[in-house]
Amino acid sequence: MAVHWKRILGGVAMACAAHCSAQHALSIPDTLSGTAISLTVHTDSVAFFAGPLTPTFGINSQKYLGPTLLLNKGDSVALTVNNHMGDTTTMHWHGLHVAPRNDGGPYSMIMDGESWTPKFVVRNRASTYWYHPHMMMKTAEQAIKGAAGLIIIRDAEEAALPLPRRYGLDDFPIIVQSVELDSQNRFMPKGMVDSVVLVNGTDSPYVTMPAQVVRMRLLNASGERTFNFGFTANHTFNLIGNDNGLLPAPIATTRIRLSPGERAELLLNLGGMEGQTIYLMSYASELPMGIQGGPTMPMPPGSPLMNSPLNGLDFNILQINVGGPTAAPLTTVPATLVTDTPYAASSANATRTIHMTADSMMVMDGPFYFNRNLFDMNRIDYRIPLNNVEIWTLMDSTMVAHPFHIHDCHFYILDRNGNPPDTVERGRKDVVLIQPGETVRIIMKFEDFADTTTPYMYHCHILMHEDDGMMGQFLVGDYGQGVQTVNRTDEVALFPNPANRQLNLKLNRPGAWADVQIATIIGGSVYSGHVDGATAINVSQWPRGVYMVTLTTATGSTVKRLLID
Ligand code: C2O
Ligand code: CU
Ligand code: CU
Repeated sequence: MAVHWKRILGGVAMACAAHCSAQHALSIPDTLSGTAISLTVHTDSVAFFAGPLTPTFGINSQKYLGPTLLLNKGDSVALTVNNHMGDTTTMHWHGLHVAPRNDGGPYSMIMDGESWTPKFVVRNRASTYWYHPHMMMKTAEQAIKGAAGLIIIRDAEEAALPLPRRYGLDDFPIIVQSVELDSQNRFMPKGMVDSVVLVNGTDSPYVTMPAQVVRMRLLNASGERTFNFGFTANHTFNLIGNDNGLLPAPIATTRIRLSPGERAELLLNLGGMEGQTIYLMSYASELPMGIQGGPTMPMPPGSPLMNSPLNGLDFNILQINVGGPTAAPLTTVPATLVTDTPYAASSANATRTIHMTADSMMVMDGPFYFNRNLFDMNRIDYRIPLNNVEIWTLMDSTMVAHPFHIHDCHFYILDRNGNPPDTVERGRKDVVLIQPGETVRIIMKFEDFADTTTPYMYHCHILMHEDDGMMGQFLVGDYGQGVQTVNRTDEVALFPNPANRQLNLKLNRPGAWADVQIATIIGGSVYSGHVDGATAINVSQWPRGVYMVTLTTATGSTVKRLLID
């Protein structure tokens, strides 16, 4: 049975059955269009629930989230981002193919009270993109508190298709976020008990949609949760677009699974349903264990609440009341959409492998590594020759699924464990969910923008994983042909981790050396030394907590996280 969870109070979940009415009219974000766009991100507060107001970030006149940017392919757009957040931030245009200095990654910091003015030509195809901060270690906090919004790109090809495109009338932005709030109604950006589901910042939302074919642009803007979207009673809908563009033809389906960062455009035929109610739902009971939001391991009775009660349940997200049709309604789903030719695997001139690991197979909450490294601003992971077409093999050896995202380019999924991707995963993507034990190959082209000083990012889009270092960076430049990278192996073993008495460091190659610096998370140095072969460090007097270990070897430096307990 579908339930609509309200929220958790003192660990007790209050739910109401599927037919209980949603309470708040869905907010539809304002729009901003044109070639000069100004966003002012500010602190604000919202009365989501009775009791204290929830501190938020709002953009322009909105108290939470920001306006939807309507951009046209080919336009040269000048943006201004004014930071009134009381903290340093950045603003990233997720999915947009722009030069690194305009991309809003961790290097493009905007100090509080200052502005940033990127300028770029819109090159992407018509689709649904989004913007959010990318501040080192603070993406989760800033995005979940509301410093994010949708971007809709339009182009001539899309404009020629018989599709709904009247924003808020037959074309609906649907930003879905699951969040956790504490007893003071404050967001808990890294909370795993994310039992409140907001749509466009509205809790318990309802919306009226006309009795005709409507378009919905779904964005999963959550920090960690994957949604298995569908409608009441397995109502069929048509998927028309993935992250980075429309599909060649609509795909009739009953489910679309979106992990954090992913988008989907769909057509829902509400023709003849005037007066009826249908819900957008998540059929989370069908998600496998290991995907955040799917069923969790049973905990012994009396254990503290570690997981959201939404996990593994089918629940309603948005109540849709079907009203009368609009003038000139769309009543049928077009048979074909756009032409799009995926890159052929045979056109690739380089391959790379990203292996996702944790300190042990039991780790649920990180840190998680790419090729055994945490993000290090001082390390360029890949130098990619401009115009390379590359196949990246993504392997997950942890017990949780990771949505992999890359900046700069869109990609196509070549295969999952050697099998072609499901039809709904075809087309242009910029986020792909890798499940535990899976090997997924993607193909992409690094074109147009070369910059050998400012890197692009790739990372897990579970925001706490990203903030904790599950991220890497690459430069695109004139590097000649093929792969130009040192394949890092794990040269230095650090164990046990967590440690409480003795920490061992061992070099895995004979004759290797390492300089070791260990610092507390706020930067105070507690150890520094040079290791040849192996060494043991007495840590019994070190305060419990997280430490950062910087290991510098002949091939570069890596940062690892150490827990003293
Ligand atoms: Cu949604 Cu690196 O971004
Ligand atoms: Cu991005
Ligand atoms: Cu992850």
